[in-house]
Amino acid sequence: MKAYGHAFRVPFRRAISGFAGLARHHNLLKKEWNVPMMRKIGVLTSGGDAPGMNAAVMSIARSAAAYGMPLIGIKHGYNGLLRKSTSIKDDLQELYLDTVLDIADQPGTYLRTARCEEFKDPKWREIAVQTLKAMEIDGLVVIGGDGSFQGAMRLCELGIPCIGIPGTIDNDLAYTEMTLGYETAVQVCTEAIRAIRATSRSHDRPHVVECMGRHCGDIALKAACATGSEIVVVPEVPWSVEEVASRLNKQIAKGNYRSTIVLAEGCWESMAPFDMYGFLTSHGKQCFEGEPMSAMRFASIMKRMCGMVEARSTVVGYTQRGALPVAKDSAFAFEAGNLAVRLLRDGISNQVIGVRQGKVFNMPIVDALKVEKHFRRDLYDLVNNL
Ligand code: ADP
Ligand code: F6P
Repeated sequence: MKAYGHAFRVPFRRAISGFAGLARHHNLLKKEWNVPMMRKIGVLTSGGDAPGMNAAVMSIARSAAAYGMPLIGIKHGYNGLLRKSTSIKDDLQELYLDTVLDIADQPGTYLRTARCEEFKDPKWREIAVQTLKAMEIDGLVVIGGDGSFQGAMRLCELGIPCIGIPGTIDNDLAYTEMTLGYETAVQVCTEAIRAIRATSRSHDRPHVVECMGRHCGDIALKAACATGSEIVVVPEVPWSVEEVASRLNKQIAKGNYRSTIVLAEGCWESMAPFDMYGFLTSHGKQCFEGEPMSAMRFASIMKRMCGMVEARSTVVGYTQRGALPVAKDSAFAFEAGNLAVRLLRDGISNQVIGVRQGKVFNMPIVDALKVEKHFRRDLYDLVNNL
């Protein structure tokens, strides 16, 4: 291992074991002689918040306490390491068990999260390293998405042992079958779409539902499957307004007037050029030139292209991110948090945690970030062609 923490700990532990003779367990040593076996670790949440982040922090805190490692919470993502706040308490905070037990099942992130553009600049990362050294933080757990992992990888290159826990509702990390928050986001969207489909059925009118997913359509696709929605539109697959109207018309021809069109928010990026202004104004609808496409505008266009009396739209939005984590996300958080601390304790770092074939595992960050995401085109075709 490259990290300095390992070089310090292993000979230190061996020396103590040798000297102690009969003492088999380090924990026993610590208990009886109060020998500091491990040094401090830190944890931060970065990027968009995700349900389950607090559960992971709780697990990290309990594990750190169990292994005798003090834990520092770093606030506002990487910003907390850059010492930009006037008060240190706004940047760094020792995490105690009773605090984390209170927040474990809460949505959002107690540590706060943020983007931190400065962290992409090596000069600022040097400051982060200085902060970590000054605080005697030997290792760091980073809970976030691929951007946050890029940051962790840079820190590893500077000799700071890091472990990444995937925390993003988007499920856009290819190396793992699960990311914290994705299952919850799908559940929230599924419940929203079920309710919407009930009212769509009552009125016999179509509905456009926009889910989150700037570059990844997984939430939209899974929620569409879970609800039996008729049409799904995602950033991964190029599409046109006319093509979706034709799919909707096929449903209408079958006697289904209450289709649900599930969109991922980033789908506008993969849409073929469409003259929304020309179309809407020629249909007597007010529109501003250059106005971006939206779920509401899209519903209005579908209504007119397909000759429906009405069409409505709903953006599920941030309710997906701020929801209580479902059991699957919390359970993953619990296991991942513990594994992260054990890896640091055992001198293994520069790793990310994930799920493979249903089992929690770890692999090098550098390799994980190289794995390419494969979109489930088969499922996409199934939803759209039934
Ligand atoms: P996510 O982690 O959810 O993908 P972002 O892509 O917004 O979210 O990244 C979160 C933060 O990670 C950024 O604001 C920045 O602080 C850090 N980060 C992202 N990319 C890099 C990079 N290439 N180098 C260093 N830090 C990065
Ligand atoms: O967490 C990922 C994500 O939810 C994306 O799907 C979405 O585009 C983005 O975050 C929005 O985050 P914010 O508005 O906080 O920048």
